[in-house]
Order: sequence, then structure tokens, then C-alpha cells
Amino acid sequence: MPASLESVRREQFPALAGKTFLDAACASLAPQAAADAITALLRDVQTYPERSATAFHIRLDAARDATRPAAARLIGARPADIALIENTSHGLAIAAAAIPFEPGDNILVPELEYLQVPLPWRQQPPPAAPEIRLVPHASGTLPVDRFAAVADGRTRAVVMSSVQWSNGFRADLDAIGDFCRKRRLWFVVDGIQQLGAFPIDVGRTPIDILVTGGHKWLNAPFGAGFMYINPAARDRLRPPVAGYLSVNPPAGGWAEYFRTPAITPLQPVTFTPDARRYETGGTGNYPGMVGLAASLDLINSLGPGVIAGHIAGLTDQLLEGLSALPVRVVTPRDPSHRSGIVTFTLDEVAREAALIERLLDARIMVSHRYTSGVGGVRVSCHFFNGADDVARLLEVTGGWLSASGRAR
Ligand SMILES: Cc1ncc(COP(=O)(O)O)c(C=O)c1O
Repeated sequence: MPASLESVRREQFPALAGKTFLDAACASLAPQAAADAITALLRDVQTYPERSATAFHIRLDAARDATRPAAARLIGARPADIALIENTSHGLAIAAAAIPFEPGDNILVPELEYLQVPLPWRQQPPPAAPEIRLVPHASGTLPVDRFAAVADGRTRAVVMSSVQWSNGFRADLDAIGDFCRKRRLWFVVDGIQQLGAFPIDVGRTPIDILVTGGHKWLNAPFGAGFMYINPAARDRLRPPVAGYLSVNPPAGGWAEYFRTPAITPLQPVTFTPDARRYETGGTGNYPGMVGLAASLDLINSLGPGVIAGHIAGLTDQLLEGLSALPVRVVTPRDPSHRSGIVTFTLDEVAREAALIERLLDARIMVSHRYTSGVGGVRVSCHFFNGADDVARLLEVTGGWLSASGRAR
């Protein structure tokens, strides 16, 4: 483990001294920095250090806004192209409401997707609701020709997660984005199983909308995420139902505005053209956002190359160890398509559940996930994990398999 990651593990994730946490794909541990930022903010909410509540509210909004540049830096975007959202589901719902469809249009969604990915489009009222076409996987992979085979002249969008939640396959976003550009399709990407582990650069990869919650590989507390909206695509989106904090601030500022006797509820307003316009635009989840900002700062300071390299080393170690056990690895092995997730199956769901119980008893945290018949025991390797965590998982798994009479 590089020294920078070793010290981060010790100082920022003290809980790892007592458990083998290999489940960032479910809900990750928050670093000490995020807990400290939230605690400091909540202390201020208890004590109101500002001279007036109005001034404090304005300060809270500014503290929330500080998440935007950190999110922008992570994905190579401009802060103006980032909207702060509650979670991935929220971002996907915004995308579904914003992208215009005509009756008879369709969208493409891989058949390995998490339930939420197509859900907002499934709820749209007819007749404009798009048909949802599932793109079949090829042995757990999603090559671009599979999308081409399902698309037709009425296809309007590809909606997918960049890393599949059940087998960890990391899609070639450049190739699929290029396919979308050439066919003038919207490209909507759910990045929650990738961002924080493997980078996405929207300056290079043609993505229209990228959404993520913070609580998985970004290690943020719950209820805070972000969304990128490509500025070149914004004019073609339907405008949102925006709140008052998405309005350009009045001349003289909000404090002055609120004490002006002549204002009415129908005061003329102009909305910001920035991605912020797609936020709820009211009082926000301030603790969640300052926690997310602290988590993002940590990841940005470590650097995406260091994190991805370390995770790749751990998944290599895990794949090698699993090859000596009587299990079947479900995750496609090509390193250019690997993520932090490695899934293996015992080809018997009840035995997998029993193994996971054994692992949980040994304080080794993993999860059990399937979609469309693809899945099994899902292991997540993150930057705070070390070779010792992987070795422990392999040891306990091997021991349980021997004891249950299925050793190789
Ligand atoms: C690919 C994917 N998208 C979305 C979600 C749900 O995310 P959120 O709770 O942030 O809406 C999950 C959760 O497992 C997921 O794996």
C-alpha cells in the first residue's frame, strides 16, 4: 500500500482497525474529515455564531456551494456545470424530466442495470413515455455493438451505469459516448459505482448527463451527491421546476431583498443558466454537502491515478486468490474493464448466503447481489483497503469452503 494511502487508512478510517470492510459498492465508510466537517457545522447550528439567522442561512448556502468546485475537479468539469443533488435516483429523475421525448421514441438500458437506472423513464405518462429496450450483455460485458444492434431510428438515449453493480464490469464510456454522438442520442451515465475509485473525465468522454450519489465510492455520508450537465446539451433540455435559490440573486443581495417593503411574490426573477438551476433550489442538506465536500477533497488530494492503481492491484490479488478456490469468478477479467468490484459465485444462492453469514461473523463485510442471473458474492476493494484485507477474505472463504466439503 503506498505510504499516502496507508496514513489515510489509519487517520481517516479508524474503524478499519476492527473490521475488514469490503463493501464500498453498498455504502462506504465516511472519512474522519467528513465527520469533522459535519460535526463542526452541526455545532454552529446549535449555537448560531452569526449575528443574525439570515446571515447564518446565507453562510450555510455558501458552505454548500463549496462542494461544487470539488465535484467539478473530480470529473474535469467547470463548477458552473455541476448541480448538487440528493442521490443518484434524484439525478436520474431530473434527467428523465429534462430530456424531451416524442411518442414512439425509445431508450437503451443494459440488462444488467440496477433497478433505479430505468425507473424514472418507466414512470413517465403515456404517450410520450419512451419504450425501454434492454441491451443484452455478452458474458457480462457490454460492447458497443450490442447497443447498435438494439438501436433504431427512434432511439433517443442510452441510459446506463458506468460500472455494473452486480458484476463490476466497467464500460468503455468513450466508445459508447462516441456511438451516441454519431447517432445524436442522449448519453446519461450513472457514475455511482465508479466515481471515487476510477476516474471519469467529462472533458474527454462525451457524456450529456452524469449523476452520482456520494455514499458509495466517494465515501460521503448519505443524502448528498452531484450531477454534471454538459453545457452544450443544456439548451435542448426542458427547463426544470426550479426553486428560489436557483434565481439570480437580487441586486443588493438577499438580506436587502427580504427587507424591501415593495417586493411581491410575483417579483420578476431571472434563473441562472448554470446546472445549479436543476437543483431543488431551497434550503439544502448542508451537513450532507459539507461531508461530501470533505470526502471529495480527500479523493482529489490522493489523486485518481494513485487510487485506481492501488485498487487494480487489490483486484488482481483477489482474482488470483479466487482462482485457487472452488468458485466461479463472474467479473470479466479484462483489466481495462475492471472496477473496484469483484463478484464470484458458488452457483447456489443458499450456499452463497451461508458463506456471507460466515464472513459477516468474522467481521468481513461484503454483499450478495444479482441482476438478470448475473451476480453472487460481491467484494469491493477501495483505496482504504490493503492486501491484508483481501488475504483475510480469501482465507476465511477458503476455510469455509473446505469445511463445507467443496474444496478443490
Ligand atoms: C448503479 C446504481 N445506481 C443507483 C443506485 C442507487 O443510488 P442512490 O441511493 O444514490 O439513489 C445504486 C445502489 O446500489 C446503484 O448500484
